[in-house]
Amino acid sequence: MTVITVAQQKGGAGKTTLAIQIATALAARGKGVAVVDIDPQASLTGWMRLREHGARDATPIRLSMVGGWRLGAEIERLRREAEFIVVDSPPHAAAEAKEAIRAADVVLVPCQPSVLDVWASKATVEAAVKEGRRPFLVLNRVPPRGKSLDEARDAIEKAGYPALSARLGNRQAFVNGIARGLGVVESEPKSAAADEVRALVDELGAALA
Ligand SMILES: Nc1ncnc2c1ncn2[C@@H]1O[C@H](COP(=O)(O)OP(=O)(O)OP(=O)(O)O)[C@@H](O)[C@H]1O
Ligand SMILES: [Mg+2]
Repeated sequence: MTVITVAQQKGGAGKTTLAIQIATALAARGKGVAVVDIDPQASLTGWMRLREHGARDATPIRLSMVGGWRLGAEIERLRREAEFIVVDSPPHAAAEAKEAIRAADVVLVPCQPSVLDVWASKATVEAAVKEGRRPFLVLNRVPPRGKSLDEARDAIEKAGYPALSARLGNRQAFVNGIARGLGVVESEPKSAAADEVRALVDELGAALA
């Protein structure tokens, strides 16, 4: 069983979006997937409700909503049921994020392509390293053109943060799929957004091997 935690202290970076895309892409590959929502905002839980009611044909993914302090026990319980567990964590909650990082095999840190957002990732990256976990920055909402990607990459390199080369664009397809309880590999499997997600999961698989 592999635990993938999505964490980022900064709010709105794309944690829930990334967690949904990874969970659905793994499920589409026939893996047994559970998602765990430890964010009191319960965004992932809301998406799962849409999935259960509006997208009945979608591949089943199990959901647990627990407080951060119960995460370790919940993962122990899910160990028998899932090959992959994807944990979505809240912003601005160092104690909960620490629990989620501690439980993880790998920590994904979504980050929008700006120097300020790269700097804001410091606490999360350092918390992962401190717990002996492998953090990877994932650039999210990358615009189709402009200098921001190069500038962000430069800042990541200078800071010495490990990052996946796969990234997600700023695409309405992600937003639309989520509104239907789906990941983009399910809602628009032939889209550029779905290609990005599959590339990300491939790279993650290679990093975990
Ligand atoms: N790749 C993307 N393309 C377009 N919109 C995106 C993308 N990623 C995230 N968004 C949008 O940005 C907003 C924040 O995303 P999301 O809720 O996933 O971030 P978060 O880190 O989970 O936020 P929070 O810190 O509040 O939990 C949402 O409106 C979401 O639809
Ligand atoms: Mg969220």
